[in-house]
Amino acid sequence: AIEQMPLSIEINGQQHNLKVEPRTTLLDLLRERLKLTGTKKGCDQGQCGACTVHIDGVRALSCLQLAVMNDGAKITTIEGLSDGDKLHPMQEAFIKHDGFQCGYCTPGQIMSAVACIHEGHANSETEIREFMSGNICRCGAYANIVNAIKEVKEGGAI
Ligand code: FES
Ligand code: FES
Repeated sequence: AIEQMPLSIEINGQQHNLKVEPRTTLLDLLRERLKLTGTKKGCDQGQCGACTVHIDGVRALSCLQLAVMNDGAKITTIEGLSDGDKLHPMQEAFIKHDGFQCGYCTPGQIMSAVACIHEGHANSETEIREFMSGNICRCGAYANIVNAIKEVKEGGAI
C-alpha cells in the first residue's frame, strides 16, 4: 500500500482533514474523492485550463498541483464561487452573453475570468484575451467570453 499523508485543507469554506496519497493531484482530490466534479479534467497536463481553481484567492491549474502541496490552503472551486443561492455575477454574465456551448471549459473559464479581473488584467479586450489565453475553448466561444468579462469588469460588481 502507498503511504498516506495528512492533509488539512479548506474547500469552499468547509474544512477537510484527510489522508491522501502523495501522488494525488488536487484535481483528482476534488473530483474523485470529494465529488466536486464542477472542476473539469481536460488535458491533465497544464495545457487547457479546464481544471482552474483558486488557491488562497489566486488562480491555479489543479491538475499541476499535488494535493499535499496545499496543506493549510483555502481552495475555491466553481461550486463555491457564489455564496448562497444566487449565481456569481460572472456566471450571470456568461449566461447572458452565451459564453459557452458544450460547457466543458466553462468552470475553468469562469474561475480564470474572476481572477483576471482581481489581478487587474481586464482593462481591454486585448488584455483580457492575453490573460485568458491559458483557457482553451474547443467550441470557440472566445468572443462571447470576452464580452462577458468586459461587462462584469465595467459593471464593477466584483
Ligand atoms: Fe489542467 Fe488541462 S486539465 S490544464
Ligand atoms: Fe465547449 Fe468551451 S464551450 S469547450
